[in-house]
Amino acid sequence: MSEPSLFAPLTVGSLRLRNRIVIAPMCQYSATDGCMTDWHLIHLGNLALSGAALLTIEATAVVPEGRITYADVGLWNDATEASIYRTLESIRRWSDMPVAIQLAHAGRKASTQVPWKGGAQLPSANPGGWQTVAPSPLAFGPEDNPPIALDADGLAHVRDAFAAAARRAARLGIDAVQIHGAHGYLLHQFLSPLSNRRDDEYGGSLANRMRFPLEVFDAVRAAFPPERPVTMRISGTDWVEGGWDVEQSIAFAQALETRGCSAMHVSSGGLDPRQDIPLAPGYQVPLARAVREATAMPVVAVGLITGFDQAEAIVANGDADMVALARTILYDPRWPWHAAAHLGATVRAPAQYLRSQPRQYRHLFEVEGSAED
Ligand SMILES: Cc1cc2nc3c(=O)[nH]c(=O)nc-3n(C[C@H](O)[C@H](O)[C@H](O)COP(=O)(O)O)c2cc1C
Repeated sequence: MSEPSLFAPLTVGSLRLRNRIVIAPMCQYSATDGCMTDWHLIHLGNLALSGAALLTIEATAVVPEGRITYADVGLWNDATEASIYRTLESIRRWSDMPVAIQLAHAGRKASTQVPWKGGAQLPSANPGGWQTVAPSPLAFGPEDNPPIALDADGLAHVRDAFAAAARRAARLGIDAVQIHGAHGYLLHQFLSPLSNRRDDEYGGSLANRMRFPLEVFDAVRAAFPPERPVTMRISGTDWVEGGWDVEQSIAFAQALETRGCSAMHVSSGGLDPRQDIPLAPGYQVPLARAVREATAMPVVAVGLITGFDQAEAIVANGDADMVALARTILYDPRWPWHAAAHLGATVRAPAQYLRSQPRQYRHLFEVEGSAED
């Protein structure tokens, strides 16, 4: 039986992926002053035993005002760095899954309540809220506080903070950085003509709207060890007429590729409440395919990928090089085991769990720490 495409290894820079299943970044809203807590050890530790190829740490704010909520993880000082160190040190003792981190700034979508308490924006007068910043003083929703437009000093501060966080990530031994350019957060706010109304060199033409996100990419790339991948997550479209779209996404991806970007992760939406999303299984996969056809970088597809055959087909058909799972792998943290069993592949399992291998899948498990490498 030929090896399933979903379980073919892939090398990206110094990153060696055992299969094509990556764990998407997922905010847990469980940090204290930007510091990871025991929840992150439980949550990430569990996912690190899933058999996926790569674990991505949630959107991690590069400055406190770049958090979506007061309970987001950050990486802006020694205390936040130490909290991630403690979490990773424990996880690495028991799992050799490579770890990426998503570096982020929420821009005008910052300063909100945690989702399970409604997720509304908190005014700056609220103890859990603060004044937001963005490319232009345009609020996300009609009820939201208008952000303050970033001036030259503000732009430099954010750019430097991304680079400083990348240096801390490098020191933590993190294997790859994903820059968050999707879902209507700060960098996406620069890209989209709906949220960027600047009349300086950072607004107007596509080249101008891409300028700040590309500067952030360059700063992060320069701050992170050259052999370790720096990648970008984008929204392939705003799903709003006159907004960011797939053609602009391709131009952005091509500009990133010439600057040394290692991979693109293609999601969509999040910028404008008027978005009209055609929700269906794999609805964002065509966006990933379009970016993949226009560049030579590996591309990750994400969004309502839940089935083993569905995921296998996405990689086998060349729609994308990898699939990312978010809700699916929270619901079923052993999804990669089940996919391997279904497709006739093998998957890593910790020695402590080897006795769980079902009788009918006698060759399913590779033992953690005992394979070729
Ligand atoms: C609990 C939760 C937290 C999320 N946090 C992030 C995040 O930190 N960064 C990000 O880019 N996307 C985030 N997302 C979006 C997911 O990464 C993913 O793109 C989306 O859920 C679609 O994939 P799915 O259908 O497999 O869930 C989050 C999604 C969920 C469900």
